[in-house]
Amino acid sequence: MQNSKFASVREQFPAVENLLYLDAAHQTPLSVPVKAELDAFYTAALNYAGPKYGWLNRVEEVRAKLAAFIGAQANQIAFTKNTSEGLNICASGLQWEAGDNVLLLDTEHPNNAYAWLSKREAGLEVRLVPSDKKWADADTFAPYVDERTRAIAISHVMFHNGQRNDMASITAFAKSKGIAVIADSMQSIGVFPIDVKTLGATAIASGSHKGLLTPQGLGFLYTESKDIVPTYVSNAGVANARADLVPVSEPLSLRDNAHRFEIGNFNLPAIHALGGALDLINSIGLENIAEHVLGLGDELIKVCDELGVELVGPREREFRSHIYVLDLTEPEWAEFFKSENIRLSPVRDGIRVSFGIYNTTDDVKRFGDALKKGIGVIKKSAA
Ligand SMILES: Cc1ncc(COP(=O)(O)O)c(C=O)c1O
Repeated sequence: MQNSKFASVREQFPAVENLLYLDAAHQTPLSVPVKAELDAFYTAALNYAGPKYGWLNRVEEVRAKLAAFIGAQANQIAFTKNTSEGLNICASGLQWEAGDNVLLLDTEHPNNAYAWLSKREAGLEVRLVPSDKKWADADTFAPYVDERTRAIAISHVMFHNGQRNDMASITAFAKSKGIAVIADSMQSIGVFPIDVKTLGATAIASGSHKGLLTPQGLGFLYTESKDIVPTYVSNAGVANARADLVPVSEPLSLRDNAHRFEIGNFNLPAIHALGGALDLINSIGLENIAEHVLGLGDELIKVCDELGVELVGPREREFRSHIYVLDLTEPEWAEFFKSENIRLSPVRDGIRVSFGIYNTTDDVKRFGDALKKGIGVIKKSAA
């Protein structure tokens, strides 16, 4: 897709004219079409206090749209609050027994790690697998698997260095051993195409405030597994719930699809907003978005090479993403970029630059100019 198409997409994100925004891995700025969905919701709430049933119909439309977006069926999607909720549903519900183990990379996002580490007192062994190369594949996990391994829990794209793990190899290996794979797609969704069949994970947990362009407080869990038992249950998850809302006295039968994980009222404005976001993303196409952010990465790598700045994560296109961490460890860098009106994130191993659909090659050039200036000031004073 030509740059002109992305230039018109950029116009939908006013924030990127006010600052150099390179922080999609933290959150993406609000776009005009997503705000329009929020405005429509709040206007109806303000003037008509509803209509709740219309709003709920819209939830089902968005659920179907999200399902199609990842090649799933609508009843395989549960709306959640965020990634952590989906991961905890899996960690609590997988029916492991004391002495079973689960594998995680030792660099995992804390929200993934703690969902499982919190089960250690109950007897789950959590094996933290060393991240010895700059991406993970089946070979990374194979030496740590034994007959008590129940699951591999892994981020598709990792927040700390941008590595894009080889999910197909991991899920094929796990399947051959009867091991569940719980994927965290918070950083990859809306940036790289995800098809649940190709990805092959038992469950996928995500939030929506990065590549899915929706404000915080909404996530989803995809699964078709019947083996994950809900920890919390409310009316929405009960298959034999009564229409008159009187609690049933006979044994509960839970829904046999992902709806059994949903509890209470939904985050209606955010779900409606997600509908607008998915339309925007679909109008560009995920293949184009992936190519766009990788292309910006090519440009950024060139700039870094010219200035002698190392990349913390992988350089290989196949294993990198929209997230690039530069080996700039002096604490002054964060303040310096702030003073240049550049939004990015300092992370454990350096400065994280992350691209969204609104970024352009001109942004990379402007960043390169600032980086050069910073090297003059910070690296010199550190030398
Ligand atoms: C890989 C990954 N998982 C999860 C999260 C966030 O978790 P939650 O959606 O529960 O806030 C982030 C970053 O915000 C992340 O980078």
